[in-house]
Amino acid sequence: MDKLIIQGGQRLNGEITISGAKNAALPILCASLLAETPLELSGVAALKDIDTTIKLLDTMGVKIARNGDKVSLDASEVASFEATYEMVKTMRASILVLGPLLTRFGTARVSLPGGCAIGSRPVDLHIKGLQALGAAIHITHGYIQASTLHLPNRRLQGARYYMDLVTVTGTENLMMAASLAEGTTVLENAAKEPEVVDLAECLIKMGAKITGAGSDVITIVGVEKLNGANHNIVCDRIEAGTYMVAAAMTGGEVKLNNARADLLDAVIKKLRYAGAEVKVGKDTITVKSDGNLKAVNIRTAPHPAFPTDMQAQFMALNTVADGVAKVTETIFENRFMHVQEMQRLGADISIDGNTALVKGVEFLDGATVMATDLRASASLVLAGLVARGETVVERIYHLDRGYEQLEEKLTKLGAKVRRSN
Ligand code: EPZ
Repeated sequence: MDKLIIQGGQRLNGEITISGAKNAALPILCASLLAETPLELSGVAALKDIDTTIKLLDTMGVKIARNGDKVSLDASEVASFEATYEMVKTMRASILVLGPLLTRFGTARVSLPGGCAIGSRPVDLHIKGLQALGAAIHITHGYIQASTLHLPNRRLQGARYYMDLVTVTGTENLMMAASLAEGTTVLENAAKEPEVVDLAECLIKMGAKITGAGSDVITIVGVEKLNGANHNIVCDRIEAGTYMVAAAMTGGEVKLNNARADLLDAVIKKLRYAGAEVKVGKDTITVKSDGNLKAVNIRTAPHPAFPTDMQAQFMALNTVADGVAKVTETIFENRFMHVQEMQRLGADISIDGNTALVKGVEFLDGATVMATDLRASASLVLAGLVARGETVVERIYHLDRGYEQLEEKLTKLGAKVRRSN
């Protein structure tokens, strides 16, 4: 199993380019199923989850051509409307084919995603939303069997649907399903994440009639058909945030290209509070620090509040900051898997329910630690960058799911990191 070997103590300096957002590319790749002509994408990062999604769409008969960050997807001859357990268990975001398959072809058979390291992560709101649009849904043998064949013109029917919880992929699935429904759909308590907005912008280019994306009420007027379009994937705000924390912790100066500060307000505020200098350009962010940071309290919540996907990274920052910080995770019930690994590095963290108390220590000591999920893995790399001596992060296949060329980008900034198997 691949691992990363990190020699701590190097200040990061220089500039790197942020890749396209994983969590925008995944729904947008699935949106290709809605179109009768090819969807042309650019800014698609080279990530394991992207590979998995492309493989899933290929098994359905989508004709796909990939050249670097460019991907062309032609769903004019889809032959299979199923996402098997084998596919879904490796990536729960496969659930994002459900809405598009159902609304364009009237049928879909998608495996229920199992739980994952960070929580049970049910998809009940996806299902209830599709039922609100008239879908007949049966859960049998671990599969979601959905159909619209009983409906007028075999099409989903627009409706008003209030989501009990803010769900990012739930909002995305329902927005895609509603785009080809008969009539108007209003999604209330919708997710406002930038990746939802990017999906909406792509769907609108394809001919969808969507207003309100980025707010908590999204209105979709169904159309008869959608066509392909050209779309460049929005930059990855979580990748950017991760490198911003790395620069602050190691006490360097790092400039990020293809990084949009307007997507990272909450993160920038917290970094400035911790004592880092953050300069914002048109599509650049520069972080400068002397490495002496102040502990900063974190409470995750849906966008535009502090993102749960940056919680582990700020936990790493707080382990070596001056003072005591409270880190509260309100989105997932088990997103502290990185804590016990950080304790192996000498961090002083105690957990009480969904809140961790982090007392900054003078230094961390390198050790062998194990990655458990994508962002936990990233936080262990950050801790390794400042720990004394060598840190080995095992099971880094988690990292490869969400960080393009991580060790190359870190090495370019002066880190001493190498991959070994
Ligand atoms: C998306 O997951 C992201 N993944 C996650 O990023 C991110 O952490 C999460 O949103 C929150 O921002 C993708 O976009 C591919 P949710 P998603 O539905 O959509 C509960 C990463 O590291 N819920 O917004 O699956 C759920 O259990 C990943 O890149 C239900 O109860 O998250 C959670 O507690 C990790 N029923 C909360 O809502 C449902 O039907 C928010 O989940 C749906 C969700």
